[in-house]
Amino acid sequence: MCGIVGYIGSNNIKDFLLEGLKELEYRGYDSAGIAVLQDSELSIFKAVGKLENLVRKTKDFHPQGFGVGIGHTRWATHGKPTELNAHPHMGEFSYVVHNGIIENYKEIKKELDAKFVSQTDTEVIVHLFEKNLEELQEPQKAFKATIDALKGAYAILLITKAAPGKIFFAKHGSPLIVGRNGEEIYFASSDAPLIGHAKEVHYLEDGQWGVAKAGSVRLFQDDEEITPEYKPLTLNKELAQKGGYRFFMEKEIYEQSDVITETMMGRLQEDHIEFEELDEDFIQGINQIKICACGTSYHAGLSGAYLLEKLARIPVTCEIASEFRYKDPVLTSDTLFIVISQSGETADTLEALKMAKNAGLKTLSICNVDNSSIVRLADRTILTRAGIEKGVASTKAFTTQVMVLWMLALYFAQLRQTLASEAVVAECKAMAHTPAALKVHSSMHERIRRLSKRYLHGHGFFFIGRDIFFPLALEGALKLKEISYLHAEGYPAGEMKHGPIALADPELFTIALMPRHLLYDKIKSNVEELSARDSTICAISPVEFELADDFIKTASYEHFMLEYYEMAVVLQLLAMEIAIRLGNDVDMPRNLAKSVTVE
Ligand code: AGP
Repeated sequence: MCGIVGYIGSNNIKDFLLEGLKELEYRGYDSAGIAVLQDSELSIFKAVGKLENLVRKTKDFHPQGFGVGIGHTRWATHGKPTELNAHPHMGEFSYVVHNGIIENYKEIKKELDAKFVSQTDTEVIVHLFEKNLEELQEPQKAFKATIDALKGAYAILLITKAAPGKIFFAKHGSPLIVGRNGEEIYFASSDAPLIGHAKEVHYLEDGQWGVAKAGSVRLFQDDEEITPEYKPLTLNKELAQKGGYRFFMEKEIYEQSDVITETMMGRLQEDHIEFEELDEDFIQGINQIKICACGTSYHAGLSGAYLLEKLARIPVTCEIASEFRYKDPVLTSDTLFIVISQSGETADTLEALKMAKNAGLKTLSICNVDNSSIVRLADRTILTRAGIEKGVASTKAFTTQVMVLWMLALYFAQLRQTLASEAVVAECKAMAHTPAALKVHSSMHERIRRLSKRYLHGHGFFFIGRDIFFPLALEGALKLKEISYLHAEGYPAGEMKHGPIALADPELFTIALMPRHLLYDKIKSNVEELSARDSTICAISPVEFELADDFIKTASYEHFMLEYYEMAVVLQLLAMEIAIRLGNDVDMPRNLAKSVTVE
């Protein structure tokens, strides 16, 4: 997830671009860059790291008068955060910035004999445009031919000496807004950078593209020219960064349905999984897997362990990093050591990784922040591409971590031939429905908001589930603890009768995860035992359960992982709505930090 800005006008091009990127830094800050075209003079500046590095680089750059400019702040998905990989990307006489993932960039790259300087997918856009321009001789036609060739998600801004004073733009799968104020034209990934500049905005829809110049925006939907639907711009920057949601956590819960698509992009194919980050040589000789992480990432790891054993029949253990570090573990060279971390900076996880590397194990990190300490140390990394997660309570990082692990389990199953090809296809089809399973429906959210008022007190919560729904129960309990400060425990449902059921009474709330397609009868009888002892039950299930005091009905998906994902969203919303009722700071709960970089 990156941020892009664009400007056409005569008022401080550089200031608008840099201030606009500052407003978008929450979308990514691995590197940043701007390009400005005045008459036929093209200027470009790029810097790795935080935006202030770019500000320093441009301190002696003072473009005066009319021009067009584009800017970009990067959250790496393809290619390390380096200056060469920073946007804007350059052709011979054109520059482009892009947010999204071009899924077919490798195929396009093969067809181009241009000199590529970066590892990114984006660079193909500007070289393809210039090739098309050579053939079609008309910039607008060349731009349309370029975007027609792209597969994947994109929000693009392109400037070129072949069309001074103009910005070409296109939107498909990634957000893009065009704003205007008299002769001045603005572009941005969200409305925050436009506040105080544009008077009215048009939110582009997928398939919309066009060309803008001073005082004019020509907009097309596919091949038909249409009139932009301008509306007044929201004026609250903080609200704009939260996209109109109350908290970053709420925004990030709603984002999951979109970001999961980026996680799968280029990896989930119709009938198989591929990882450009892995190869058979790397996997060669691996007979077991050890996963190591903390907190929510540990719960994702536990979920992945179930999937890897179920699908790839490979022995997996999953350990809490702070325990693993001091237990004098037995490590064998045929073990793949996987660390999972949203931040890539968690001290215990980083130290565990160092132990594995010192023991000579192959290491793989599943991480959301490229160039982080863990990414730099691991032999290989698979990025979750969740975009920046600002809420301390992790949501989209968790669901994208589990997706990477589900794809990894399928990848190993393909290599070890533990699944018939039709079973692999069935898993791929199920995965493709994950965005729908993660989608938040307002009716569901309102139901959870209403029933949350009954769970503000009491002497504790049990979250229970079986099989892969046990780590999900752990995660649901952690979400609640973190932001509501109420006590909660996740438990394997089959364990209740080995002691915990002694706690059962009306003041003990049990949140029961009851999927239709995984041990339903077993979990049902566990919940009946609790209900018979008068415990207050909140059942989350696609199957009506008459013994529940509260019942949250979920969809009837055919695959248990789609049930898993929908229930993950229910648990996230439940924790958030309870915390809101208790008046807590959902985004910055007490005693916690987003990244635990100390022991
Ligand atoms: C999750 O909601 C918590 N904020 C916390 O448990 C977190 O998952 C843990 O600290 C690990 O962080 P990491 O994923 O950045 O390594």
